[in-house]
Amino acid sequence: MRFIKIIILLFISVNVFGQGVIPKPVSIELHNGHIDLEKVKFKCSSLFAIGDIYTEDYFGQMSKIEKEFNNTLLINLNANVEMPISLLYNINTKIKSGYKLEIKEERIIISGSERSIFHGIQTLKQLIFQSKGKLQCQTIIDSPAFKWRGMHLDVSRHFFDVEFIKKYIDVLALHKMNTFHWHLTDDQGWRIELKKYPKLTQIGSQRKETMVGKNFDPYKGDGKPYGGFYTQEQIKEVVAYAAERYITVVPEIEMPGHAVAALSAYPQFSCRQQALEPLTKWGVSEDIYCTKDSTFTFLFDVLDEVLALFPSKYIHIGGDEAPKTRWKECAHCQANIKQHNLKDEHELQSYFIGRIDSFLSSKGRQTIGWDEILEGGLAKNAAVMSWRGEQGGIEAASQKHNVVMSPGSHCYFDHYQGDKKSEPLAIGGYTPLKKVYSYNPIPNHLDKKYHKYVMGAQGNVWTEYMENPEHVMYMALPRLCALSEVLWSGVGKSSYDDFTSRLIPHFDLLDTLGYNYSKALFNIEAKTIIVNNQMSISLSTDFPEYEIRYTTNGNEPMADSKLYNAAILIDRDIKLKAKLFKNGEPTGNLFSQDYNYHLAVGKKIVLKDPPNKNYSTGGAQTIINGVVGTLPWSGNEWLGWRAKDMYLSIDLGKEMEVSKIKVSFLQAPESWIHYPAKVVFEDNNNKADHIVSNNYPLVLRDGFFELILNTKTRYIVLSATPLRVIPAGNPGAGENPWLFCSEIIVE
Ligand code: ACM
Ligand code: ZN
Repeated sequence: MRFIKIIILLFISVNVFGQGVIPKPVSIELHNGHIDLEKVKFKCSSLFAIGDIYTEDYFGQMSKIEKEFNNTLLINLNANVEMPISLLYNINTKIKSGYKLEIKEERIIISGSERSIFHGIQTLKQLIFQSKGKLQCQTIIDSPAFKWRGMHLDVSRHFFDVEFIKKYIDVLALHKMNTFHWHLTDDQGWRIELKKYPKLTQIGSQRKETMVGKNFDPYKGDGKPYGGFYTQEQIKEVVAYAAERYITVVPEIEMPGHAVAALSAYPQFSCRQQALEPLTKWGVSEDIYCTKDSTFTFLFDVLDEVLALFPSKYIHIGGDEAPKTRWKECAHCQANIKQHNLKDEHELQSYFIGRIDSFLSSKGRQTIGWDEILEGGLAKNAAVMSWRGEQGGIEAASQKHNVVMSPGSHCYFDHYQGDKKSEPLAIGGYTPLKKVYSYNPIPNHLDKKYHKYVMGAQGNVWTEYMENPEHVMYMALPRLCALSEVLWSGVGKSSYDDFTSRLIPHFDLLDTLGYNYSKALFNIEAKTIIVNNQMSISLSTDFPEYEIRYTTNGNEPMADSKLYNAAILIDRDIKLKAKLFKNGEPTGNLFSQDYNYHLAVGKKIVLKDPPNKNYSTGGAQTIINGVVGTLPWSGNEWLGWRAKDMYLSIDLGKEMEVSKIKVSFLQAPESWIHYPAKVVFEDNNNKADHIVSNNYPLVLRDGFFELILNTKTRYIVLSATPLRVIPAGNPGAGENPWLFCSEIIVE
């Protein structure tokens, strides 16, 4: 057993008590006394170092502190002792996991393993930053709840240089995250240099142009060639940089799908072998790797070079969104199905992943892939990253495979984090900070005996709509801070209010370090309240020290606009705008919503099947609240069902003259959301139950499903049936589509 003590003597000449560490430490015990940082200069000496290699690293870390804090801490390896306050690194074998940080008037001591001491330094950095002069004496004992504390970054859809990747890694380190999942290849660009296959970057890293906004159909491109890749030297530099921060880089090489950039360079590994180009718009391609032997030779070569660059135990091989269209028509692929006695193309995918898995195992590595790798049977040693909800994670863990949870609902940081009207264009969804903070990586429905297979969770940053580093950080922060606390501190160890009370001062640190971040947490939240068949809107904020000021005529709220103190009745069309104020100063984004009054607003609605829990924000009332969802869609205006009819009845309270019903459904094929196959109004002789007398179809006109009724009725009974499967030629073809409804307008 090795015991290493390195004492850094800190010559301090001084700063206010701050206890805002993120992620929150397990235990903090405050003591009397403080270190006066304004009077103290931190100088250090390796007095007690026992010639250990770690010395340099630790001083390296302290030098970094010096840089980050504008030289308030002075580190000098050859210092003469002036007024010693010792910062004692102690690799203490008595601490099983985590670190102990003791701040005493005469010294600071951090003990733990090498890795844990690094985490202790992150805590100390945050404390010093917030202390504003006086660093309070205290003892912190701290260790992580989960072992996979990950963040992902897609560099294919948009490319980010090494300087930014390091900055991204730095912010992971500051939050004690330990895994960087680097999504290096996809349809729109291959970003890693491989010596044996130079065309991967010569051809595969360059695309002709990029789609503008969401102009899928009709397509509109920007006409600007786009490209970039990392040389092997740069990759090594990043891997080493991350390792110094105790972060493992897990590379992702996508297969068998999301491979168009690779197949543009080497079309011989596709089924049809025709010319392809890296894609210029987002989505899923039917052109995937063929399962012929030469593809495996190619992929093993690719992986050989990847393994030489990345020492990580896990290698991510993608596995998601691989349509089977080409395999169904390919002689090689069909012959493989026969030869290996496979039932279908799903089993062929399983065969494909299985061969890759055996290869990686033979090299002493472990496969990890998106949850589609469960389909057709999970490869022997593979771990699963659960993204289409939690089910994949539950299944894999129940089969005693390791799992990383990354469900879209809580962990996709490409979703909107606030009202989309005041947020930059995003892919869709609605994943506000509070939702991330509420996440529990251990699924509710997972039997206790399998909990140990859940290694942790990960935030994913897909960059279709993020063109520059500032935008990436804006989407990642502060959701990353919330996820770091879920993963390090553990679920239920703090509250959202407690978290935000630490986060707001933490923003100053992010500012100092030059990180862009979202302030959407200051959003004003609107809820509908129904009393006596009338709807009102209540506004709230998570920060009661702020006032809400509002207008209903569409004007910008000012410090002297009406003070919100009671719910606002919606009995006519109104244009509501609201903003937070403190001492007359506005903060956060503008809340803005038009409410279009109609007969069903505020009435009673009963759904036969509830919407999917990930797309149920606001509940049933969301579809009769006077708000028609707009594009680009975000998850809070729509209710979503999958593989189920939307079947409902609205009780208008009394018989009313109804001229027209208009229903707003969403058509967003890139997100697997399709119009229903049919929508019908059931005339059931004014009974609330679903006994059908006559069905009247609604027809699509100007973006709404519409029925001219001109009749008296009390009940509006509607059913909408989704398409059975997503039609060929669309992302997710052959899978069940989503059905999204935002409003049922009754006039
Ligand atoms: C994924 O988001 N396609 C894993
Ligand atoms: Zn094929």
